[in-house]
Amino acid sequence: MARYLTGIQPSGALHIGNYFGALRPAVELQELGEAFYFIADYHALTTIHDRNELRQNVLDVALDFLACGLDPEKACFFRQSDIPIVTELAWILSTVTPMGLLERCHSYKDKIARGLPASHGLFAYPVLMAADILLYESDVVPVGQDQKQHLEVTRDIAAKFNEMYGPVLKIPEPRIRDEVATVIGLDGQKMSKSYGNTLEIFAPEKVLRKKVMGIVTDSTPVAAPKDPAHSIIVQLYRLVASPVQIGAMTDSFRVGGTGYGEYKKQLFEALWSTFEPMRKRRAELESDLGFVESVLKRSAERALVIAQATIAKVRSAVGISGEK
Ligand code: TRP
Repeated sequence: MARYLTGIQPSGALHIGNYFGALRPAVELQELGEAFYFIADYHALTTIHDRNELRQNVLDVALDFLACGLDPEKACFFRQSDIPIVTELAWILSTVTPMGLLERCHSYKDKIARGLPASHGLFAYPVLMAADILLYESDVVPVGQDQKQHLEVTRDIAAKFNEMYGPVLKIPEPRIRDEVATVIGLDGQKMSKSYGNTLEIFAPEKVLRKKVMGIVTDSTPVAAPKDPAHSIIVQLYRLVASPVQIGAMTDSFRVGGTGYGEYKKQLFEALWSTFEPMRKRRAELESDLGFVESVLKRSAERALVIAQATIAKVRSAVGISGEK
């Protein structure tokens, strides 16, 4: 059975772009193989330096995933920092990682361009990511397009290590998510926290309604027919409505006579009811944080066994343990 591994950055409230783009596909994968999902809190430290914010974000990821169908009996769902061995592997890998490989990383350059201070952690981020992937001997790493280069770096580092020390590390296969799966944002750009155009799935009713009412529309008069193909409302509605509902809305667009405000209300209702079960489940989990913690801890115990086996091989290969 293939092992799927992916890291989740705890970066704030879950929006429907995250949900349809990453969370739901991850939950579906738990049926197909051995799923290893971890909350990348060591990585988050490269951008979050407020301990309360970090703790809250990590808890939010745990609640979001469990509320949206991650099954801890199937998937191994843990906190990256519960297995500090990963930082040891990252260090060892860093000694075989060429500077040039990291200097070419777009993600680092983009972050600096956006104004983040150029810390060593930010620069070494891909090495820690390689350590995550290689430590758990992952077969397949499902990620978004933005992480493609980081996976190439992982493969390069693993190949280099194996060339120097023998065939110790398992070289993973990337699986890049289809960009067609990208969710459109309130302003028509890709939905992304950095564009401020998101719909948070667990936002309070009022907040969500207000955001939906703020979707950008054109100035076609109420009476006139409208083009469903280019409407942000319709594109979002397709994610959360039934085929019959979608058909009714697109037909009504073509006929005319209905204003965008009415369609926005329909979109809001569909969104609200789609996420109703998850909202309920999340509230239950929030009142049972001991359970959430025990899920993470139990998974970490499973992950630790694999981590210890890999690090033992690595230590011995490089010559820093007593074993030959
Ligand atoms: N860098 C990834 C992201 O921003 C998160 C991540 C950390 C990750 N370690 C990983 C993804 C290992 C896949 C495998 O989305």
